[in-house]
Amino acid sequence: MCGIVGFIGNQDAKEILLQGLEKLEYRGYDSAGIYIIDEANKGHLFKEKGRIAALREVVNNEVASSKGIGHTRWATHGVPSVRNAHPHQSTSGRFTLVHNGVIENYQAVSDAYLSGIELVSDTDTEVIVQLIAWFAEQEELSTLDAFKKAIVTLKGSYALALMDAENPDVIYVAKNKSPLLIGKGEDFNVVCSDAMAMIQVTNQFVELMDGEVVTVTKEQIEIENLAGDKIEREAYTAELDLNDIEKGTYAYYMLKEIDEQPAVMRKILQHYQNTEGQLEIDSVITETLLASDRVYIVACGTSYNAGWVGKQLIENLTNIPTEVHLSSEFGYNMPLLTEKPFFIFLTQSGETADSRQVLVKTNELGHPALTITNVQGSTLSREAQFTLLLHAGPEIAVASTKAYTAQIAVLAILAEVVGKSKGLASDVDMIHELGIVAAGMETIVDNKEYLEELAANYLSISRNAFYIGRGMDYYVAMEAALKLKEISYVQTEGFAAGELKHGTIALIEEGTPVLALITEESIAGHTRGNVEEVNSRGAHSLVIAMENVAREGDQFVLPQVHALLTPLISVIPTQLLSYYTSLHRGNDVDKPRNLAKSVTVE
Ligand code: AGP
Ligand code: GLU
Repeated sequence: MCGIVGFIGNQDAKEILLQGLEKLEYRGYDSAGIYIIDEANKGHLFKEKGRIAALREVVNNEVASSKGIGHTRWATHGVPSVRNAHPHQSTSGRFTLVHNGVIENYQAVSDAYLSGIELVSDTDTEVIVQLIAWFAEQEELSTLDAFKKAIVTLKGSYALALMDAENPDVIYVAKNKSPLLIGKGEDFNVVCSDAMAMIQVTNQFVELMDGEVVTVTKEQIEIENLAGDKIEREAYTAELDLNDIEKGTYAYYMLKEIDEQPAVMRKILQHYQNTEGQLEIDSVITETLLASDRVYIVACGTSYNAGWVGKQLIENLTNIPTEVHLSSEFGYNMPLLTEKPFFIFLTQSGETADSRQVLVKTNELGHPALTITNVQGSTLSREAQFTLLLHAGPEIAVASTKAYTAQIAVLAILAEVVGKSKGLASDVDMIHELGIVAAGMETIVDNKEYLEELAANYLSISRNAFYIGRGMDYYVAMEAALKLKEISYVQTEGFAAGELKHGTIALIEEGTPVLALITEESIAGHTRGNVEEVNSRGAHSLVIAMENVAREGDQFVLPQVHALLTPLISVIPTQLLSYYTSLHRGNDVDKPRNLAKSVTVE
């Protein structure tokens, strides 16, 4: 949520900042801005509502500058507008700040310190920069001390980059809960929310911890804690391939990421196999999981939907009872825990604030936690005892696709390895079965034109839709509905097929699209019965069925895979249906309205 960049060196900062913001645009894209300081030490502020492309239009290319900060926003306080766009400045114009996160006590801080100051935006962020100015100008503190004092006064989440026009060769940086990295270069240094933003200039990054304050100049990166103790930290090499973050010939990242799924399955298999060709997971993880009496999967959105499939896999393959919870509920409404819980945090980004607040609590309680994430070094990965990586490559489209299937595949491997080490007999040869899945995915993504036709016939004009299914198919229905909602804006429910008749069937009217997922023999008959029920009430039904249960007339037949892995296959046509529906409706597929990729506020 929101992207921050900063650059200080000898090159043209403008272009590096703008390119960095373009790479971070997926994190928030309702407005953007940059602040640069020219060779005569004069500051220039450019802000615009909308995308980075719009910001480019207002940036004065004549200004020569080698230092500055930038921001792409996902509004939490105040509508998207030029006035509320970052960077924000103190009244005197001396201090300029970009912020990612939410300041919870901004009103109280404003009342206590800023009553004489006229705030020009509706944001919580402006309060921070005015407060820093107040400490520097009224209490005559150095910029660093004013910055630190402001940080101690503020409550909430933040990643901050600050510039002081009176001391223009420094960018001051701090974070709490929100992500921020420093990138190291030859004669320059950079600041960014995600290594992706600056990978074109450096692959050396230094992690920051909450409660640290950093002064970044073109030669140095000085980290200290609030007490002023210096902290030494080595840079790490970000293993990001520039090709992974380019769209190539694709119109949208989402389609590229859908297409990558067979390769991701194979990559995961490769990463989790030892030299003898056996699946392997760090034995400390499997032993800790084996010693637990219940698994709690905690996640949001698509990851939460993957969690339900994970529950089936873990319970089936390990016999360990498993619960699935929404992070945003769990944190405030914690269920009674068993004696030996084992927590699994599923998170593509590893930065989701709702999930992180639960991890903070479970860490305090001393329970073991495993983060399954796509982003090495992300906050949830650093803070959990264990991490398993998805190896899916960067996921940039806001709508998650390959992370969902990667999460299921990693959970399947984890469950298989734990089950085996528990000595349970299993008929699943996971390496073989995931290989079949990869091949099956390939046949579906090769069938795009037909799915585009189905999207046009069923979903291009409808205001609402239903996905229905039972068991695993119900879990996929929830994910399919989320995907359709978020990028096509069709109001969609993912519903348990058998539950429709208990009330929701009242919503079915002439022409309502009902998409049924049927992959399991034991429930196929019942779900087909439910399709008949909605058809009798005028629904426009579409059946997606797996080979073993398919019937003539079904609109889409899925290649056969193992019963525990059907979601990996049945979700693919639903992703493509969402993609084409969004495309036909003229939406920005990768950057749907109101959303952001990485949700770093609670
Ligand atoms: C899904 O398409 C997303 N837009 C969203 O629901 C996402 O899955 C959720 O915010 C969780 O993100 P995470 O996996 O990075 O924690
Ligand atoms: N709370 C700030 C705002 O609404 C920052 C939001 C963000 O992280 O983009 O401007």
